Amino acid sequence: MSTHHVVEIAGLCKQFPGVRALDNASLTIEAGEVHGLVGENGAGKSTLIKILAGAQQRDSGTILVDGAEVSLSHESEADALGLHFIHQDVALVPRLSVAENVFLGRRLPRRGPFVSKRAARAAASTVLRDFVDVDPATPVAALSVAERWMVSIARACSGDARLVVMDEPTVALADAEVERVFEAVDRLRSRSIAVLFVSHRLGEILRIADTVTVMKDGCTVGRHAISTLDRTRLISAIIGREAGAIEPLGEPAAPRDDVVLEARGLSGGPLQDVDLTLRAGEILGIGGLVGSGRTSLLLTLFGHHKPAGGELLVDGKPVRFHSPADAIRAGFALIPEERRTQGLLPRRSIRENVVLAHLQDFRRSARIPTPDRRAETDRTKREIDRLKIAATGPAQIISTLSGGNQQKALLSRWLVGRKTRVLLLDEPTKGVDVGAKTEILRLVSELAAGGVAVIIASSDLEETAAIAHRVVVLREGRTAGELTRPTTEAEILHLCYQTPTTVGGPP
Ligand SMILES: Nc1ncnc2c1ncn2[C@@H]1O[C@H](COP(=O)(O)OP(=O)(O)OP(=O)(O)O)[C@@H](O)[C@H]1O
Ligand SMILES: [Mg+2]
Repeated sequence: MSTHHVVEIAGLCKQFPGVRALDNASLTIEAGEVHGLVGENGAGKSTLIKILAGAQQRDSGTILVDGAEVSLSHESEADALGLHFIHQDVALVPRLSVAENVFLGRRLPRRGPFVSKRAARAAASTVLRDFVDVDPATPVAALSVAERWMVSIARACSGDARLVVMDEPTVALADAEVERVFEAVDRLRSRSIAVLFVSHRLGEILRIADTVTVMKDGCTVGRHAISTLDRTRLISAIIGREAGAIEPLGEPAAPRDDVVLEARGLSGGPLQDVDLTLRAGEILGIGGLVGSGRTSLLLTLFGHHKPAGGELLVDGKPVRFHSPADAIRAGFALIPEERRTQGLLPRRSIRENVVLAHLQDFRRSARIPTPDRRAETDRTKREIDRLKIAATGPAQIISTLSGGNQQKALLSRWLVGRKTRVLLLDEPTKGVDVGAKTEILRLVSELAAGGVAVIIASSDLEETAAIAHRVVVLREGRTAGELTRPTTEAEILHLCYQTPTTVGGPP
């Protein structure tokens, strides 16, 4: 029996001003297979996907669906062919309800000749059932980021799909939700529906994919059966050289003696009685499962959440942050988890996005508050080089960068601040490719060596163990324990999962 190609893309080219996003890219997806698509930030994965979706137009190349050449000029055409998409930036309409979004552009359930809201909601419930527990009547604007993703994934998996394309579907999800996505992928595979799956989490690719295509600089550079790959081989295929070429992080410099930040009995939201101290030059990892309070802790330290109790001391003196502005004045910087929605100015240049929080550092003089564009541009150029951001230059509009490069640009916003003393990082390497991950961690290490105190919350515990001097593990908002360097992912996980021996009673 000959294999059946659902999609066959060949010789695809796409030029943007100053960037060749696709340069003779090809991709063949067979019926019923889960096909992994990997490559560094800016390799062209999302561009290829957008062209297949009819959302962008190719310059040249051919696309065959079920052996017949197609030219897709609109997204509804791809949808009608059974090509369903979850794009890297979720495209739901916030004003509309969940049910309306699920059926957007598709045939609505009818009762006789009329569209029935009731029937639509019932049908939407069925679509959502295996994915997320939300009321179909809720406006999408009221959903959390993770819930929006789950709705969008549920929508793509429903209907008469032949191929479901998922562009980094797990980036905003917690472990339990990631499991649901994997279950959905398995269900699709068992129904012979093909899946194209993009992720920078190589463990996911190795677990879920049957075949992997690797892209680099707009070209397809390899196609591998999963049975021929392991983590090291996959990394080598992505970076185009031996995996050993990514230098491991060295030992971090020792922290200094002076305590910069101290929290005593911090409570509020999920947090209960959290104590911690942080020295200058110290990197403190926060371990914990989803819902353990990691993000709340960072937001509370940053003045975003008002603590219900407890005390915060900076340089030994009690402080009260009424807003993030107070925290910023005290030298705090927070890189939030949801960078793309919290803090990106999509229509502005990289330069404007990078210097935004530090405008006072880029004035012509203390007395003349005119911005020094030249200094801003030079500084942004240096950040682009340092973080290897794939961009044409500081003037490029940030939303035209690839997803991972947008992350890196926003990260550099807080790294350019001269006065940053306490750096709070929530999932700093999410959506970032395997080489850039190490670059970012190295940078954090350098900042710490220069005296900046760092708190890092990452769900990649291997990364946490590699970089932190100390790891505090939170469990249900309480401190469950502390580990000092050297520690391992397994040790941190052990503390995360350990069931408390006393129920409700404080020791
Ligand atoms: N609308 C646009 N205008 C200009 N350049 C663009 C536009 N869209 C994408 N690019 C450029 O095309 C290249 C490929 O981007 P693409 O988003 O396809 O990468 P990717 O492989 O999906 O990366 P990531 O893993 O970071 O999501 C990048 O250099 C990007 O800056
Ligand atoms: Mg992308």
